[in-house]
Amino acid sequence: MDGTEPHPRLRFSAVAPQRPIGTLADDVRGGLLNPPRTLPAKYFYDEVGARLFEDICATEDYYPSRCEEALLREHGRELMAAMDAEHLIELGSGSSRKTRHLLRHADAGVTYWPFDVSEAMLRDAAAALVEAMPELSIHGLVGDYHAGLDVPLPETGRRAVLFLGGTLGNFKPDQAKTFLREIRDLLRPGDSLLLGADRVKNPAVLERAYDDRDGVTARFNLNVLSVLNGRLGGDFDLSAFEHRAVYNREAERIEMYLEARRPQTVHLSAMDHRIRLEAGERIRTELSHKYTPDSIRGLLAPAGFELRRLLTTPEPHAYSLVLARATD
Ligand code: SAH
Ligand code: TRP
Repeated sequence: MDGTEPHPRLRFSAVAPQRPIGTLADDVRGGLLNPPRTLPAKYFYDEVGARLFEDICATEDYYPSRCEEALLREHGRELMAAMDAEHLIELGSGSSRKTRHLLRHADAGVTYWPFDVSEAMLRDAAAALVEAMPELSIHGLVGDYHAGLDVPLPETGRRAVLFLGGTLGNFKPDQAKTFLREIRDLLRPGDSLLLGADRVKNPAVLERAYDDRDGVTARFNLNVLSVLNGRLGGDFDLSAFEHRAVYNREAERIEMYLEARRPQTVHLSAMDHRIRLEAGERIRTELSHKYTPDSIRGLLAPAGFELRRLLTTPEPHAYSLVLARATD
């Protein structure tokens, strides 16, 4: 991954998995072949998917991105001052577009560490940022954060982890707790975590956000079937599936599905496997948990964080930025 580095302030490295991670074929075998059918969300983000996600963020109906950006724009300076960090590690950084509202307040000598599984996206984002920010050093990290956070940080310098976009909400509750503890292990007492968290609200607003009227989210969801077609020699017919986004009130989460419009048999030639689906049968592709101030505190405290600021946009589009500090 190193060697010909494109810019003196820019480098990249691969994050070595700390535990074994399954291949796509393993994940399909473990999740897709038998009901309840599921697929890991990381497969959404091939080059097409990463671009479609950016398009989702630009839709009128997907308010979380717009709201988070407004909070970052308005409070970027004070958040950066409060974190006072020399190293900013962003998990699932994507295009790093909103992060600019923080980075523009960075002092000279700060290093930004964007971490993403989508290498093409990461390289493009980092190359654009290093040009736009003349004082910033960037160390891009390519890897799957579910496999561990073995980030090559230097010993000295205050650290802050940024986890934006409500992505923690895409983890199952147990997974979210474990992951916050892993983040805490990357930090020292007094270091910071800046977390984006979407809020429990009117289900109609939530369901709209995950089934936008421009149909971009539907295309994004369906694109994961193209990823399987491309990588596993599949013959999924995208027009035979319908995008569904359902709010589950008990679990306080949006659930995303691909629903078979008719009975069908899909062949995955690289795995020599056939999947038979009934009409109406669903594949769960994503969860997006929504939070309350209490549930946010409930996540943070056991992981070793204390809440410092809770910035929230107004109803009906409540979305929060959570600034937390690593406790002793
Ligand atoms: N933070 C950005 C992007 C959010 S989309 C924003 O707020 O707009 C989620 C991002 O996480 C994508 O860029 C995706 O490639 C990345 N991602 C998804 N699963 C991942 C994984 N397992 N490991 C690392 N990055 C992952
Ligand atoms: N972190 C985003 C969220 O939960 C991810 C996301 C937005 C998403 N829209 C989506 C994932 C549609 C799958 C499908 O809000």
